[in-house]
Amino acid sequence: MMNWKGGVGKTTITHHLGTGLHMLSQEERVKYLHSEKTPRILFVDNDAQCNLSISCLHVEKYEDLVYKYHYKTIHDLYKLFICNEAPAVDVHDYILKNQVRMDAKKIFMGMDLLPAHQEMAYLDLNIAMNNRANFESGLMSKEIYKYQYLDHILEPLWGEYDFIFIDCPPNLGYTTMNALYASEYCLIPTGLDHLSSYGIASLLKEVDRLNTEFATAVPNHPMIEVVGIVANNVDENRQEPKRSQKLIRERLQENYHELMFKSYLTRGDGITSASEQGCPVYAERSGNAGKQGELLMNIVREFLERI
Ligand SMILES: Nc1ncnc2c1ncn2[C@@H]1O[C@H](COP(=O)(O)OP(=O)(O)OP(=O)(O)O)[C@@H](O)[C@H]1O
Ligand SMILES: [Mg+2]
Repeated sequence: MMNWKGGVGKTTITHHLGTGLHMLSQEERVKYLHSEKTPRILFVDNDAQCNLSISCLHVEKYEDLVYKYHYKTIHDLYKLFICNEAPAVDVHDYILKNQVRMDAKKIFMGMDLLPAHQEMAYLDLNIAMNNRANFESGLMSKEIYKYQYLDHILEPLWGEYDFIFIDCPPNLGYTTMNALYASEYCLIPTGLDHLSSYGIASLLKEVDRLNTEFATAVPNHPMIEVVGIVANNVDENRQEPKRSQKLIRERLQENYHELMFKSYLTRGDGITSASEQGCPVYAERSGNAGKQGELLMNIVREFLERI
């Protein structure tokens, strides 16, 4: 999940895509996933703001685990991989298993989290400063290892999950590039305002540029595919985006055609209160939360159709 624009809903949509996959009916699982089983999900919080960890666990539990009991985080893994090409480490020891909250009382089984730490605020700097002696600096293809840490971290987990969702910070630094290197797809949430839509062209160009750079450095590296652009914080008037947002949406559709998701998420306090309670909006079925839950499930279905 990426966008260098902040506050557009990266974390909210990551959290609800993953948890939404567990809300699909059995018929939908068969239709979209070709399996009756609930998919195994891993959330990777790749952002120093730790918002995905907090959304999944609730703020008190997150702070207890990481700052009181010093539970290990993805930041410790990054540090090990930056200092050592092949550290003797078991990534499973860093994963919080079956702790993502469904509501105040229940948790999702088969849904895990690799939590973040706020010290990741300096991760881009650490990656930039740690050069390997046997590599020349300068050309990106010669420093490809700086983009591969997260891929190496997640490698042992590929076969164990049906979906791995990586939430990124609002920038295009090394931390985000590591997520892109490790990903098959990227999804871009956006607001329907002038400044949010402005950055999308540059973002798509950046994905193209990275695909070329990665393919040059590592010939068999799979291309990152943009799954699409999802509009968030939409204000509706008569069940469709209000006029100013509708115009921006139409312009995005003209420019990016099928990349634009048909489904979108409205702005509403269902998300706000669910977020405070540390659970997805699906926990509450009435009022605005009910409506946002339905819209998010439409995004989940469209995401599955697209991939
Ligand atoms: N559709 C919505 N309705 C109401 N509130 C929303 C909605 N989407 C997101 N929010 C709220 O807006 C804030 C920003 O959303 P979120 O954290 O998901 O964005 P982000 O892109 O991950 O931000 P950052 O760039 O800082 O990582 C959060 O407090 C979130 O709860
Ligand atoms: Mg975020």
